[in-house]
Amino acid sequence: MNKQIAALEKENKKLQAFYDQYQQARQNEKERIKELNCLYQVAQCVVLERDTLAALQKIVHIIPGGWQFTDKCCACITVRGDQYLSANFFASSIRQRETIFIDDQAAGTIDVYYDPDIVPQKSDPFLVEEKNLLKGIANIISFYLKKQKDDQARKMIQNQLVHTDRLATIGRLAAGVAHELNEPLGNILGLAQLSLKLPDLPKQAKKDLDRIQECAIYSREIIKKLMEFSRNAPLRKEKICLNQEIENSLTFLAAQCAKKGIAIEKQFEKKVFIMADPNQIKQVVTNLTINAIQAMENGGKIIFTVKQVADNAVFSVEDTGIGISSEHISSAFMPFFTTKDVNEGTGLGLSVVYGIIKNHDGDIRVSSELQKGSVFEVSLPVEKE
Ligand SMILES: Nc1ncnc2c1ncn2[C@@H]1O[C@H](COP(=O)(O)OP(=O)(O)O)[C@@H](O)[C@H]1O
Ligand SMILES: [Mg+2]
Repeated sequence: MNKQIAALEKENKKLQAFYDQYQQARQNEKERIKELNCLYQVAQCVVLERDTLAALQKIVHIIPGGWQFTDKCCACITVRGDQYLSANFFASSIRQRETIFIDDQAAGTIDVYYDPDIVPQKSDPFLVEEKNLLKGIANIISFYLKKQKDDQARKMIQNQLVHTDRLATIGRLAAGVAHELNEPLGNILGLAQLSLKLPDLPKQAKKDLDRIQECAIYSREIIKKLMEFSRNAPLRKEKICLNQEIENSLTFLAAQCAKKGIAIEKQFEKKVFIMADPNQIKQVVTNLTINAIQAMENGGKIIFTVKQVADNAVFSVEDTGIGISSEHISSAFMPFFTTKDVNEGTGLGLSVVYGIIKNHDGDIRVSSELQKGSVFEVSLPVEKE
């Protein structure tokens, strides 16, 4: 009898062990399903959400759902100093962390926290699977951020190409118009000057002819600028020191700056030489500086920098003025684009600068922030000594 009881008890224990195993397996299965579901939702976010901020905000809310003690769990994603928090966020000593990388460089972290009062006190309450899950999520976010960065770079290049293309088209048009008008304008000027030499001109006729001459000279200036923009102006290149050329241009502008309470700062790293037309380079510096002065009605500072970057002579003109709005910045180099009053600007300064720099195989870039200031950066091929 005792033997029979002992056998039954043994059998019972076995059954109990089986049942426990079964329950554990079911529990594990539930956890795996939660984890897979969490990973799936995170993946959905990065596929469907184009806006980085919205994607990270959604992901951080999804994360606790993949952890064993969902109700006692919260998460935080930090990317380049910006934090995204899950609902009811708290920081605690029980933490799991993974790093987010962009281009092999650490760009942020994901942290998952458990509430220490409620989670069973074990040395490490996080499951191996949860550690892998967090790694997986960190990888997905890294991939997503890299893709967003690449997309942005591609968009910028595309915009730049469209912009360059548009400027080239306008350049051709401007060159055509300038060429066609140049000759009749020369005739108008010449004939007016001849007529002015006629004897016994009535007073009013002389006055009118003077006015015709003035207008023709003004129009010729505009045409000259249009030709410079469309790169049809003749070039007289020689070896010049960029630093010296900037200094020369500034001697004419220093008084104007002083009068307006504008300080001039020069940050010249070293002497840089270029093959260029000195008059045209002077015009570039002058036009950029006049724009900077006009952008600072209440005083400020202009910083001139010169440096060499690889095979390029790079100089910049930076001001602390009103800045250029994002809607205007892409038009800034277009001929006749101006935000100034009729007497202040014709909208040809930057187009002339653009034409000159392109004619010297260089590049010009602008970055600006409203009410903070603008930086125009020019790069030209360096002439080796
Ligand atoms: N340093 C600057 N700060 C703010 N706005 C600028 C600056 N430089 C250029 N701009 C903007 O670009 C426009 C075009 O400049 P530009 O071609 O020199 O023509 P203009 O000076 O005759 O208006 C200006 O009207 C102004 O709106
Ligand atoms: Mg100007």
